[in-house]
Amino acid sequence: KPQHDLVVVANRLPVDLRLDESGNATWKRAPGGLVTALAPLMQSNEGAWVGWPGMADLAIDPFDSDGIWMVPVSLSETEIAEYYEGFSNDTLWPLYHDVIARPSFHREWWDTYREVNEHFASMADYAAAEGATVWVHDYQLQLVPALLRAARPDLRIGYFHHIPFPPLEIFSQLPWRRQIVEGLLGADLVGFQRSGDAANFLRSVRKLTDHTTSGQLVEIDDAEDRLVRQVKASAFPISIDSGQFDKLAQTASVRARAAEIREELGNPDCILLGVDRLDYTKGILHRIKAFSELLRDGDVDPAKVTMVQVASPSRENVDAYQQLRDEVEVQVGRINGEFGGIGRTVINYLHHSYPMEEMAAFYLASDVMLVTSLRDGMNLVAKEYVAARSDDRGVLVLSEFTGAAEELTAALLINPHDIDGTKAQVLAAINMPVTEQRRRMRRLRRRVLADDVAKWSNRYLATLTDVATSQPERV
Ligand code: G6P
Repeated sequence: KPQHDLVVVANRLPVDLRLDESGNATWKRAPGGLVTALAPLMQSNEGAWVGWPGMADLAIDPFDSDGIWMVPVSLSETEIAEYYEGFSNDTLWPLYHDVIARPSFHREWWDTYREVNEHFASMADYAAAEGATVWVHDYQLQLVPALLRAARPDLRIGYFHHIPFPPLEIFSQLPWRRQIVEGLLGADLVGFQRSGDAANFLRSVRKLTDHTTSGQLVEIDDAEDRLVRQVKASAFPISIDSGQFDKLAQTASVRARAAEIREELGNPDCILLGVDRLDYTKGILHRIKAFSELLRDGDVDPAKVTMVQVASPSRENVDAYQQLRDEVEVQVGRINGEFGGIGRTVINYLHHSYPMEEMAAFYLASDVMLVTSLRDGMNLVAKEYVAARSDDRGVLVLSEFTGAAEELTAALLINPHDIDGTKAQVLAAINMPVTEQRRRMRRLRRRVLADDVAKWSNRYLATLTDVATSQPERV
């Protein structure tokens, strides 16, 4: 039996399947803040990562990837349809993001969600040594903490919620709301992006369960009303590997590529950039509307200003995502037809995902970064943009409905539903004098470079240790 002292449980494994020169399939570490931050810790603690390898019916044995033991969880086509696309991304995702899209409630999806969570929990149980720390991640796995606690009371269990936790009035719509809350309460520490998310969760605990709370602590009693343990709920705003991004964006090849991108776009006076998963929470249509009105009003000259929208493919089997793609593509086509010219596209729409080097070059090449989410747990793209701008140039336009807006207050903040307000801020960004760009970007960079993802995970794990070691004596 494997004996790992630190076990991460997340829906996805942090590896991608690649073909090597001789055509053999190999697993390559996927770039990502979380795995980068945890790698050193996992390598020195014999860490294991339990997750789905991203394809159906892939029954593979655990394997080593650069010092991290990968424990693949195999999902069938039906499980992917009902647990991942269904309950996670067509029920919970829209519900937790202010019901921007209408959530679908299906009892079969819930049953499969529960079963798959049981599967993940049993794999974590299998991988974890006596007294190990298990860190569960995100909304796909909210039942895992309690399932694991029931099987393994010896474990120290943490959970981090990467997306918003909705207000009680919205969360209450979920027919299985109490089970979800009880699932999360299996953890010693439930972490959120913002203190508002933790407050929403604590209110749901008080209204939907019999547990009492005291400040950030939830008290779990036994049948005789004796305190058995406490669960802490608080905020740990996540970040990126800012140092790595900063360095990457200063390399000669990325700088050269940035210059080349400007060239390829016809050296416009101003490049506006959007970078998102193609997701309805990101406000891509709101952003395009504001931009098109600026063009129509004559406030922005389409011969001088161009927009680049990177929209990486996401959850393409879910209806709402297909509809969004259709709408975005209709709008982009309409605007290019109306305001473009021969060899001159007004919105350069890219339905691709790119490696980190190319993203860094996009950030460097652009003058204004547009983050217009209608609701967003954190938004790491905003932080990446800032980390890439060691030249202290560029303007960040940032939706106040992102977790990032609580920290990045030197950005130009917008309410993306307010089209006129958004237009005014975009115009201010386009016309911002270099001295003001510098002043704001320096403030933003101080913040992003100081609070990187390694600090985030250290702070989270240190708090988890504190909470777990100060649990009351078991009765
Ligand atoms: C968000 C979620 C993650 C998820 C990611 C990509 O950031 O918080 O849990 O992994 O989106 O979505 P996907 O469905 O492709 O995993």
